Amino acid sequence: MTAVSRRAFLGVLGGAGLAATGCGGRAEVSGELLAGRLPLPRPFTVPLPVPEVTRPVRPGRYEVTQRVARVEIVPGTTTEVWGYDGAFPGPTFELRRGEPVTVAVRNELPVPTSTHLHGGVNPPDSDGYPTDLVVPAAYGSGHQGHDRHRHAETRHHLVKDYHYPLDQPAAMLWYHDHRMDHTAPQVWRGLAGMALVRDAEEDALPLPRGERELPLMICDRSFDEDGSFRYPDLHAGGHFGSDYMEGVEGEVILVNGAPWPVAEVTATRHRLRLLNASNARRYRLALTPGGRFTQIGSDAGLLAEPVAHDTIPIAPGERYDVVVDFSAYPVGSTVTLVNTLADGPARNIMRFVVARRAADDSAVPRTLTSPERRPSAVTTRRFDFRRTDAAWTINGSSYRPGVPLARPRLGTSEIWRLTSDFHHPVHVHLAHFQVVARNGRSPLASDGGWKDTVDVRPYEVVDVLVRFAGHRGRYMLHCHNLEHEDMAMMADFEVI
Ligand code: C2O
Ligand code: CU
Repeated sequence: MTAVSRRAFLGVLGGAGLAATGCGGRAEVSGELLAGRLPLPRPFTVPLPVPEVTRPVRPGRYEVTQRVARVEIVPGTTTEVWGYDGAFPGPTFELRRGEPVTVAVRNELPVPTSTHLHGGVNPPDSDGYPTDLVVPAAYGSGHQGHDRHRHAETRHHLVKDYHYPLDQPAAMLWYHDHRMDHTAPQVWRGLAGMALVRDAEEDALPLPRGERELPLMICDRSFDEDGSFRYPDLHAGGHFGSDYMEGVEGEVILVNGAPWPVAEVTATRHRLRLLNASNARRYRLALTPGGRFTQIGSDAGLLAEPVAHDTIPIAPGERYDVVVDFSAYPVGSTVTLVNTLADGPARNIMRFVVARRAADDSAVPRTLTSPERRPSAVTTRRFDFRRTDAAWTINGSSYRPGVPLARPRLGTSEIWRLTSDFHHPVHVHLAHFQVVARNGRSPLASDGGWKDTVDVRPYEVVDVLVRFAGHRGRYMLHCHNLEHEDMAMMADFEVI
């Protein structure tokens, strides 16, 4: 679409959409589009899948096997995925606050892995440190991997028990591969899934539930002519002079692993648990032909009060917990979830068909959680995310495992000032934070609540108040653009 026709088109969506998109375009794009070689699937024909909820083998213990599988993603063709239990997305975990679980991960893939429960207040040895590897079961314990770097830190397991205390509020977490230098291609091949933590406080709210609560993992992929996932070799030639240094964007948008799916809904409120699991793509979510999202939660839990948005920016790693009221649309009509940052086919994400009326006893209460007093910070630290020559760095350095850039004390809070030269979705392991300022001004309307990932945009200064709770030990912060992450835009910190 030309700029003029795009504006005219947006005009019918109302002023808010136009204003939000007016400053968009290339400046909002955070990666490089990778063209596929398979004809694009037709949008809104594949029914929305909802990943299966996995069951414990006995109370508190789950067993998951990472393996290769062939699945039909684009109708009429099959794709090899690397999946938790052979599924993409992996199975969904339904967990409860204060009920610890162990997840035993067995690796039957041809490569080492490390699994991170993103948003989890995890002990350090269960946090998916990039060199804490689960080696392929077939290779035996002597296997040293074929990592580009051999880190003194590297530890190997055949099956690893990850322990999650889950001493944290209800929230949507997700899990994904975190292997040193290889996270981006391994997540692209399918190693990601969702986890919902519930608690009594959330149970007591009259929010939509059951079929009216939809976890939606949004990501983009490109396909080769044989149906396989297409992904560039970023390490080719042993340097990072790649065309994809900025990050890889796919041309097909998947929700729960299906291309541009369609879901029938009743004309009632629905709770959408939105996750951006893309490697590099940012989205600005909107509803066509119009409508609002009522945000009830952020990455790490429920908001104190709901906030209405016409559009929601969502960067890789972030989650938004929203309610959409489909009774606002005529029965028989369609409502499309779109990304106003993209043009062409990738502008669409998925479609809802409002199939029929139904009773609705759900509500969005004015108060969702009792707001906690904001802790005061004991210090301010600065983390600068920047490209130097052919590397992505934090405070001028590529990742050095075992060299912490900060040693915060357990039980304290600090201001971390995040500065940036590009789009860097900054993720902090273990510690949740609140965005307190952007460029010295108030945060965005969509920045509210406790978070673990924040969308830091080009030349921004974002202040977050980070609370160190739960565990002492070695953790990391990094850019969640997975190509930047693999190009060593990571750093350790140690909670003491
Ligand atoms: Cu979701 Cu360290 O990552
Ligand atoms: Cu980045």
